[in-house]
Amino acid sequence: MHDFDHWAELYLAWTAMGGAEPGEIAYYQRLAATAHGSVADLGIGTGRLAAEVEPRVGVDISAAMLRAARDRLGDGVLLIQADLAACELPEPVALQYCGQNTLNHLPRRAVRAALACAYRNALPGGRLAFEVVQPRPERQKARDGVPRLRVWDERRTVWEVTRMLDKQGLEVEMVGLLETLDERRVTDRRYFPPIRMCLLTTAEIGRWAAETGWEVESAHAGFTGEPLRPESSTAVWCLRRPA
Ligand SMILES: C[S@@+](CC[C@H](N)C(=O)[O-])C[C@H]1O[C@@H](n2cnc3c(N)ncnc32)[C@H](O)[C@@H]1O
Repeated sequence: MHDFDHWAELYLAWTAMGGAEPGEIAYYQRLAATAHGSVADLGIGTGRLAAEVEPRVGVDISAAMLRAARDRLGDGVLLIQADLAACELPEPVALQYCGQNTLNHLPRRAVRAALACAYRNALPGGRLAFEVVQPRPERQKARDGVPRLRVWDERRTVWEVTRMLDKQGLEVEMVGLLETLDERRVTDRRYFPPIRMCLLTTAEIGRWAAETGWEVESAHAGFTGEPLRPESSTAVWCLRRPA
């Protein structure tokens, strides 16, 4: 069983409560609309983005996530259970996208392998677009062990607690908490067991992209084109396999 099998329920709740970044869906939809060939969602999860972007293929390592994706998406998407660091798509594709920090959940050494693998699965001129969280040790120190309320509605709250595993803020562990509420009190509280995140620097992604053959088409600090800096909290990369 993969760690993420336990998290499918939390992701479904988070999505239902509208926890996504503004601009994220439109960004991937724009790339899909200009893709000359098939589109693949890498780390499709519960199908949150795929429901909007409509890829041909979705890949995920977690059977529970893939079951949730099948329920959401029906039979129109080919779902493959595989590790992104060693995954062969049935045909080369024009766009691969990897949403919501999915690459941060691979072991650090596997991220380069995942970029190499995506390159092999790309058509000449094909793109790989993804969002990753960058290390910000000072902010992470301030948040270390502190529960953060991420989203809520009248019936539920989703919390997250992170713990730094090194002083540089390169590796963290995260637990989730889903509370169910009535008008006056918490009626149920479910914990989701620790998952690891490796925070990825601009320099690391830039180096691995170049080593695996990708050209950087764009790199921004968000989905609306803000300039990317080493201290930006997230990075949105679009890589292109040379034609
Ligand atoms: C943060 S969730 C994001 C899901 C989806 N991309 C979204 O934006 O809603 C990360 C997903 O990556 C998957 N995942 C983690 N490690 C993986 C790996 N090595 N190979 C394939 N999928 C992986 C998890 O199972 C989970 O579904």
